[in-house]
Amino acid sequence: MTTLTTAPLASLLDQLFDEADKATSPGMAALSEGERDRLFHSKTEYRNFYGLIKDLWLPVSRQTGELLYMLTRSSGARVIVEFGTSFGISTLYLAAALRDNGGGRLITTEFEPGKVARARQHLQAAGLADLVEFRQGDALETLGADLPGSIDLVLMDGAKSLYLEILQILEGRLRQGAIIIADDADACPEYLGHVRALGSGYMSTPFSEDIELSLRAA
Ligand SMILES: C[S@@+](CC[C@H](N)C(=O)[O-])C[C@H]1O[C@@H](n2cnc3c(N)ncnc32)[C@H](O)[C@@H]1O
Repeated sequence: MTTLTTAPLASLLDQLFDEADKATSPGMAALSEGERDRLFHSKTEYRNFYGLIKDLWLPVSRQTGELLYMLTRSSGARVIVEFGTSFGISTLYLAAALRDNGGGRLITTEFEPGKVARARQHLQAAGLADLVEFRQGDALETLGADLPGSIDLVLMDGAKSLYLEILQILEGRLRQGAIIIADDADACPEYLGHVRALGSGYMSTPFSEDIELSLRAA
């Protein structure tokens, strides 16, 4: 039995995925397809974009959540950084794995205050809040100070255009063997160029569902 597959988390995840499926966004509906695409990739208007669609949960899929749980367990990770909390679904998977690893620290960051408040409630309902530090604000700032000396695992799931900058903020702290999971990484070619470059210190491969899975190899 694992924290992921037993009460209270198993039924909480069912309920949250259900709620996420039903969420609608007037902000998203008002955007043309071209405008959505432009904002999704923008390096300067990401704050505006995620503000407009703040009602959407945009969670990782169940499969990706399970992958996060498995990678955290198999690597024995104790220190995790997550870029992009939203309502905390991926955070729940990561924190459950930390619990089953014997404990640890998960720093997660999100700029929408309403999302941070709900995510905090969800982690409390799951009995996992003691493992999680919520940093409210732009990750470029919230992750710019007071980082752990050594990071075991990173989830990239915030504004796609910032993936490379966020990685560069964390890079000096990644332990050898650290794992980085980047969701929808295809939307950030410069990130892919960096982690796939020969001599970059990473091994990296595309994985299922638009995930780039990277290892800090050297
Ligand atoms: C795809 S969602 C994250 C989904 C979450 N990982 C989950 O599985 O439930 C992306 C989130 O990142 C947040 N975000 C985007 N750019 C950010 C930034 N620069 N700093 C903090 N949060 C950011 C957005 O507000 C949005 O809630």
